[in-house]
Amino acid sequence: MHDPERVIIALDSSDADTVLNWVMLLKDSRCAFKLGLEAFVSFGPDLVRRITGSGARLFLDLKFHDIPNTTAQAAVSASSLGIWMMNLHASAGPAVITEVRKRLDATGKKPLLIGVTVLTHLTPEELAAIGVALTPKEWAVKLAQTGKASGLDGVVCSAHEAAFIKEACGKEFVTVVPGIRLPEGDVHDQKRIATPTFAFANGADYIVVGRPVTQAKDPREAFERLLNA
Ligand code: C5P
Repeated sequence: MHDPERVIIALDSSDADTVLNWVMLLKDSRCAFKLGLEAFVSFGPDLVRRITGSGARLFLDLKFHDIPNTTAQAAVSASSLGIWMMNLHASAGPAVITEVRKRLDATGKKPLLIGVTVLTHLTPEELAAIGVALTPKEWAVKLAQTGKASGLDGVVCSAHEAAFIKEACGKEFVTVVPGIRLPEGDVHDQKRIATPTFAFANGADYIVVGRPVTQAKDPREAFERLLNA
């Protein structure tokens, strides 16, 4: 059975009661939670405080991508909400990451700072279409290396890149892996997917799982199945 503390449940809903219900339902299992754009745009910091106030570890997944000053100010505001982990796009570049790291350190509050590398819905063909001449693996490793040098604690990547990132950036560099699917489940819009067992065996420190659990008829039962898949 996988360690439930290494599972992050994505609370993707635009209904606050639904989000809080998932937290109540799964909190005792010791998993962490992730609040992303869908819920944050609707309910903002209040919902974040309600979740962190329940004692749960929360990853605030707002994927910042802006110039250094704007991103750093947003990161400082986010860190005041008592979150465990937050992120920005690693492709925003070293100057952004360096500034965010510097200003976060100055607050004394230190959520894990994670960089998004190559989103898991992207295929090599789509990367080529937007002008990226590298494979997902090559680009993810490059973004992880430059991100680490600029002050990231870790990255979001697919299960197919995590081991290479560990090799390039060291064991302590945190890997957070979405695109997790049960062998028999719907893949939805994800492309570079993997099962929990594959992800943990290939360098994931944490896996992120949304719809396979939250959209199941019985989310608790789906969570248990995930721990054994
Ligand atoms: O429902 P599903 O398991 O596909 O949810 C994945 C979650 O992980 C979503 O909240 C999505 O925003 C997030 N994600 C991410 N980085 C990726 C892919 C998905 O943060 N590369």
